[in-house]
Amino acid sequence: METFEQPSELQSFLQRELRQKKSIGFVPTMGSLHSGHISLINKSKSENDITIVSIYVNPFQFNDEKDFLNYPVDLDEDIRLLKKINCDVLFIPNTKDMYKDGFDLINLDLGNLDTILEAKERPGHFKGVIFIVNKLFKIIAPNRAYFGEKDYQQLLIIKKLGGRYFKEISIRGCPTIRDQDGLAMSSRNKKLSKQQLNIAKKVFNLLQSTEQVIKKDGIQKAKISVNDFFCQNEQINLEYFEIIDEKNFSLINKANKDKRYRLMIAFKIGNVRLIDNLKLKQ
Ligand code: PAJ
Repeated sequence: METFEQPSELQSFLQRELRQKKSIGFVPTMGSLHSGHISLINKSKSENDITIVSIYVNPFQFNDEKDFLNYPVDLDEDIRLLKKINCDVLFIPNTKDMYKDGFDLINLDLGNLDTILEAKERPGHFKGVIFIVNKLFKIIAPNRAYFGEKDYQQLLIIKKLGGRYFKEISIRGCPTIRDQDGLAMSSRNKKLSKQQLNIAKKVFNLLQSTEQVIKKDGIQKAKISVNDFFCQNEQINLEYFEIIDEKNFSLINKANKDKRYRLMIAFKIGNVRLIDNLKLKQ
């Protein structure tokens, strides 16, 4: 595996590869890799000649400094994993290079994506994500880039960024990878105690059963039953539970058979914040 820290060195390497007409797949990450990340990397490997993974814990996308300082980092283990799955290139940029031209806002019309759910709960978060993905896309200029549905709102925002500024890059959304109990894999899971993990694992069951409640009793009843679950489990706090219409990312309060819905949830266990979502079967 080739490893680069300097953008210019990575670009020289890529120019040599491009002369041989190789296609480039890109998987941006913040490290502390797990099987969710690995699924994106394997997808990229199956569709491209070269796969580049970046690891960079981007300080400007953390709206809460404690969350940034608490973010799990294990570069040695990440490198071991990446070598094991034959990743071609690892890019580990630093903040000096990423922010050397300052933090300029990228002009992008995001509509609801910029006002509800994650955007509302984490002010400034997506501005940081857009900035860094824009920067990485400019440096790497991949043919394809891979993002997880686990961060569904982020995926839609990156698709908007791509559609506006990087039409030549195909943005690929990949399904959420879960553990055997349904818990969505997340770097933050590593921060949970065994007991906290067991509580987190209940949330996927909750989402699945809520799907049935919506079908039988409607959205308002479903919201009440989700709230009841959180009232009964003191160690876990609900930040939001909403149902969105996938077409325009709007919040839904009344079910309509023709629409495509997705359940969106954010919750906290101790000081660990987790998100998940589930597409409803039609
Ligand atoms: P990070 O949280 O490390 O996630 C990197 C990519 O892995 C994202 O596209 C995310 O959606 C995907 N991913 C995480 N958990 C997943 C799971 N259980 N199943 C499938 N995919 C999963 O998201 C970020 O980093 C950052 O915001 C980033 C895009 C790198 C910009 O800094």
